[in-house]
Amino acid sequence: MHTPEIRQGLAGVVADYTAVSKVNPDTNSLLYRGYPVQELAAKCSFEEVAYLLWNGELPDEEQLAEFTARERAGRALIPIVKDAIDGLPLTAHPMDVCRTAVSVVGARDELAEDSSPEANMKKAIDLWAVMPAIVAYDQRRRRGQDVIEPRQDLDYSANFLWMTFGEEPVDEVVEAFNVSMILYAEHSFNASTFTARVVTSTLSDLHSAVTAAIGALKGPLHGGANEAVMHTFDEIGIRTEESLEDAAARARTWMEEALAHKKKVMGFGHRVYKHGDSRVPTMKAALDKMIAHYGRPELLGLYNGLEQAMDEAKAIKPNLDYPTGPTYHLMGFDTPTFTPIFIASRSTGWTAHIMEQIASNSLIRPLSEYNGLEERVVPA
Ligand code: COA
Repeated sequence: MHTPEIRQGLAGVVADYTAVSKVNPDTNSLLYRGYPVQELAAKCSFEEVAYLLWNGELPDEEQLAEFTARERAGRALIPIVKDAIDGLPLTAHPMDVCRTAVSVVGARDELAEDSSPEANMKKAIDLWAVMPAIVAYDQRRRRGQDVIEPRQDLDYSANFLWMTFGEEPVDEVVEAFNVSMILYAEHSFNASTFTARVVTSTLSDLHSAVTAAIGALKGPLHGGANEAVMHTFDEIGIRTEESLEDAAARARTWMEEALAHKKKVMGFGHRVYKHGDSRVPTMKAALDKMIAHYGRPELLGLYNGLEQAMDEAKAIKPNLDYPTGPTYHLMGFDTPTFTPIFIASRSTGWTAHIMEQIASNSLIRPLSEYNGLEERVVPA
């Protein structure tokens, strides 16, 4: 009897071609449309990177001006979306709020059923443009605060911070946030992107694919890890007056105990990268700047202690969610808002893949090997 090779979790399976990004675990590199992500993070705005992911090339000045004007025109929270958010209890996880809000954005879009390249590009830009309003408002309503109107004089990242906190964003903080948005934007066939492609492959619409992708991103083995990292820090205990060394020592002890109990520690490990995540050094540098900016060395102590203990025990390296969690914490985001920020960024990569999938579609429908009961007779 022929026994098929089963690859649980599709580990190592190459499912299709993509020209959007290239992950190379051997060289720890990640290219968006051919450009190293570290260089993009150092030299570009998130708007330029979004344009690149969707169009394949960086914009010239005129293209960027037109593109940013389109994005800025779509920043305000749509009233029907606000109503839908207001109808949800404060106990709902912000990821569930985003999933619902994106669904409403889609349901009211007159192009909802139009999957032409032009319609999908418009829907992708519109959704990306409005995501900060959704994420920011949800955090604000939990604090008993009202919506803040977008600012036309700020770039995407600065406006995101403005709409969340209602304070003039500081350049250094905007820069670190911009870096996180660029690093989160795209990562080939990760679980949420693949989910979006599966939904798209049935010829369903863009918002349905993104809504499903949000569901996949929520899980702690995927995007939810940035939130989970902060829970780890909280469990160890953040003591603002503690020295870096003392915090590191407590974190090491925590990690040793966690590993002794065979616990999976979120923010470490990766399905593709086994020698370190290509995005971590860039994000860690941004975290270092934020730690210095806010004067919080004890957070670096916790960070170092966990990382070193994990490395010594299992040689497992941090992934992008590890430095991103504490960075967003320092900026003032509530922990459950971390993964929704990831949505705003990754909506660019998801929709780039959705458009790529449609352009050369084949229904994604794998097989399974049955291992249940043999055929039997239904009792009379
Ligand atoms: N903490 C502790 N041990 C870990 C670990 C972690 N974060 N990640 C992997 N391992 C261990 C596993 O326990 C397993 O050990 P074993 O062989 O002794 O059983 C081994 O490393 C392989 O792990 P596995 O989960 O099978 O690898 P994978 O490729 O399927 O997993 C992840 C990749 C991302 C799912 C996994 O590393 C993980 O769960 N990480 C935490 C979640 C996270 O941070 N996700 C964000 C990813 S960007």
